[in-house]
Amino acid sequence: MEFSREIIKWYYENKRSLPWRNCSDPYKIWISEIILQQTRVKQGLPYFNRFIEKYPTIDLLAEASENEVLKLWQGLGYYSRARNMHTTAKEITEKYNGIFPNDYKKILSLKGVGNYTAAAICSFSFNLPYAVVDGNVIRVLSRYFGVQIPFDSSQGKKVFEQLAQELLIDNKARENNQAIMEFGALQCKPKAPDCKLCPLKNSCFGYNK
Ligand code: ADE
Repeated sequence: MEFSREIIKWYYENKRSLPWRNCSDPYKIWISEIILQQTRVKQGLPYFNRFIEKYPTIDLLAEASENEVLKLWQGLGYYSRARNMHTTAKEITEKYNGIFPNDYKKILSLKGVGNYTAAAICSFSFNLPYAVVDGNVIRVLSRYFGVQIPFDSSQGKKVFEQLAQELLIDNKARENNQAIMEFGALQCKPKAPDCKLCPLKNSCFGYNK
C-alpha cells in the first residue's frame, strides 16, 4: 500500500482544481466522465461548464430535446456519447425517479457507461471501492510494477484490473482513483515522464531499468 499512499500524498500537493472534483453529485460526475471519455480536460472543461449551467439537474437534461443537447455538444465529436447521455437521463428520470443509482451493477447497465465509467462514478460520487483502469492507470502500473502483458488481451485486462483493485485503499477509493489518474496525466506522462522529481522513482521498475 506504500504505492497508493505516496500517490495520494503526491495528489494533494499537485492536483489541478477541476469543477467535478470536490463534488460528489453523481449527475455532474457522470456528465464529466462522458465528456472526458474521448476528450482532453482542457477541451472538455468549457463544455462541462456549459452543460451544467444549462442543465443543472438530471430532470432538466431529460426534458430537453435531443436537438438542443446535440447543439450544446457541437465540436466535441463522437455524438453517440451525447445521444446515449440523453437517453440515460430519461431512463434515470423514469426508472429511478430522477435519483442517480448508487449501485455498481445498476450504473454499469446505463447506456454509454462501461467498466471504467461505472467505477469512476461509484468511487468519485459514493466512495465505493471500485478501482478505475484507464490509459493513465495502465501506463503508471505497467511502468512502476514492470507489467509487460498488453492490456488489450483478455488476460492483460484481468491482470491490470486485479492489480489496480488490490492497490486501492478501500475507504479512500475516491482520492485513490483520482490520484493515480492525475499522476498519470501530470507526472508519469506518456512522453517525457518527470522521473527526476518523482516521489516513487526509487521503487519504480521502469526508472530502475
Ligand atoms: N479524465 C477522465 N476522468 C477524469 C477526471 N475525473 N479527472 C481528470 N481527468 C479525467
